[in-house]
Amino acid sequence: MQYFDIIGGSRLKGSVEISGSKNAALPIIAASILCDGETILRNVPDLADVRQMLTLLLRLGVKSHRDADGALHLRVEDEMNVHAEYELVSKMRASVCVMGPLLAKRRRAQVSMPGGCAIGDRPIDLHILGLQTLGADFELANGDVLLKAKKLKAAEIFLGGPFGSSVTATANVMMAATLAEGRTIIASAACEPEVTDLANFLIACGARITGHGTPEITVEGVDRLKGTEHRVIADRIEAGTFMMAAAITNGDLDLVGARMDHMRAVVDRLRRVGIIVERGEKGITVSSSRRLEPVTITTQPYPGFPTDLQAQAMALLCLADGNSIITEKIYPDRFLHVGELNRMGAQLHKEGPTVIISGVKRLVGAPVMASDLRASAALILAGLIAKGTTRVQRAYHIDRGYESIEEKLQKVGANIRRQNES
Ligand code: EPZ
Repeated sequence: MQYFDIIGGSRLKGSVEISGSKNAALPIIAASILCDGETILRNVPDLADVRQMLTLLLRLGVKSHRDADGALHLRVEDEMNVHAEYELVSKMRASVCVMGPLLAKRRRAQVSMPGGCAIGDRPIDLHILGLQTLGADFELANGDVLLKAKKLKAAEIFLGGPFGSSVTATANVMMAATLAEGRTIIASAACEPEVTDLANFLIACGARITGHGTPEITVEGVDRLKGTEHRVIADRIEAGTFMMAAAITNGDLDLVGARMDHMRAVVDRLRRVGIIVERGEKGITVSSSRRLEPVTITTQPYPGFPTDLQAQAMALLCLADGNSIITEKIYPDRFLHVGELNRMGAQLHKEGPTVIISGVKRLVGAPVMASDLRASAALILAGLIAKGTTRVQRAYHIDRGYESIEEKLQKVGANIRRQNES
């Protein structure tokens, strides 16, 4: 097992290349199941989760390779297997994104229920509801979702759940609807930029989609989709994580490739904290050289403040000059980082889905345990400013969603080392 050792105190300065979006790439890779011919994807980050999805697709008859420029080439070679097995799905929940494409293209899908994870229950009832409404027969057997349909028929689907819209349920239903007969309307659809990027990819393959990026998406079914070339958008969550790294170290970073139009809620909150965030030539520049003001943050579906930056914002607000409040409306249990930050001297008090953050003068380095992808990022941010050494264990969590994070941080002055447990 690997861990990170971070010695706090360096102000980060310089430029960081923002990688392609994990949460755009994963459903787009799954969408290649729908396509005849070759699909070529650029700016796909080299992450554990991406490699996991490619392993699943290989089992499903989709061959892939990276060319010398790093572009990912995918081609369907065999359509026999439709089973996404538990040993793969349990490792990565986004595997459920193969459900819609398998059902639409191969008329059958057998996908293991993903089960819960560190950030909470991860139901897929909305995915199933949407696909059933398109005409699929559904059965649950031995923990697998079994779906089949001779031909999917367009429908009007309300996809809203108790926590608002669902990103990957919208992705699954939209992908399935591209080959369904007729006009499908998806109401209460997710508006995340990653859903919009998926829609743009599908349109380039010949799908007829409008309304993507709004809560109502319309899909006119077509007979077939043809593989195309597509460049994946930049990762707004990685960009937001580095924004907070600049803020917490009173640093000055240029985030190359970051898109201001995808980050308005995050930029709004950071500006209220007192961080200077400006549109740069090639992305976004972030600088801070003063005390941090306390703020209130509530996570919401896009365009609200993203739940995937909640833990990172909490680490930053540990050092604000007063009391901040964070309320988590998407995953009310997504707080495993609270105990670990308190071990570093933070003053965090959790009341249900809300955490009150009393600002402290400093954090102190300590051995801490990463529990999930974004909590690990929060602990690394805290380590960048803590006095002394912070050891973030279980580095594999961070490798799921950040491409060479320690190299990117070292390049702008952070004292961080990846170590192997002896
Ligand atoms: C996507 O997960 C992201 N993952 C998550 O990022 C992100 O946290 C989440 O959206 C919310 O923005 C990918 O895109 C691969 P949801 P997803 O369905 O689609 C409930 C990361 O760190 N819900 O939008 O699984 C659900 O429990 C990961 O990169 C249902 O009730 O999330 C949650 O409370 C973590 N029924 C809320 O909706 C369903 O059928 C939003 O979940 C589906 C979801």
